[in-house]
Amino acid sequence: MITQKERVIKYFKFHSKIYDVSRWAFLLNREDAIEALKLEPGMTVLEIGCGTGLNFSSILKRIGNNGILIGLDYSQEMLAKSKKKIEKFKWQNVKLLCEDAENFNLSIKFNAILYSYSISMVSDWESSVMSSINHLKEGGRLVILDFYGFQGWGMACERAITWWLNKNHVSVNRNYEEFLSSVFANLELKIFKLGYNFIAVGRL
Ligand SMILES: C[S@@+](CC[C@H](N)C(=O)[O-])C[C@H]1O[C@@H](n2cnc3c(N)ncnc32)[C@H](O)[C@@H]1O
Repeated sequence: MITQKERVIKYFKFHSKIYDVSRWAFLLNREDAIEALKLEPGMTVLEIGCGTGLNFSSILKRIGNNGILIGLDYSQEMLAKSKKKIEKFKWQNVKLLCEDAENFNLSIKFNAILYSYSISMVSDWESSVMSSINHLKEGGRLVILDFYGFQGWGMACERAITWWLNKNHVSVNRNYEEFLSSVFANLELKIFKLGYNFIAVGRL
């Protein structure tokens, strides 16, 4: 039986080609999520499921040349697009890792960790969050931006969008709030556009 990992990797073999020209239309609130990381010059940042690196330039503007940004993803094709951006803009302080976000072990800790429209594609997302927490420095921030449940959109819309997202290997209607508030005493969760998407912020 084909696993979620195999399905997602296969999906992005094609979607990596059209990702940057299509996703601006529906992967919203990127800048708000990056702002919520409260980045400062020199900080270390991990983006989980970094994809084609669409968030990199905004992150790098904030952490400067002395900061470090690591992008982790298990799709070689998506990482190849990130690599092109790194070469094009001559970013010296960005590293890419081809790893599974469900369970990873890096030799560095971070001031900030970002999931931007990636956690909804990770099957064992709770395990991924726990791995991330193990990589946060004291006082570090974890920010998650993703689709929510479309609860305010009316039953028909909610069903249609959820069906379409599932077809694209995205899970909605997960109880992020319950799990995240069990691991972050200070969790802040904001829901936008009647349940279209959310930003969750946890601090260690
Ligand atoms: C919708 S894209 C988001 C990319 C980027 N963060 C953005 O905001 O544009 C989801 C990314 O998460 C990656 N991904 C999904 N599940 C993953 C996992 N378990 N381990 C590593 N990467 C994963 C996919 O390969 C894909 O590149």
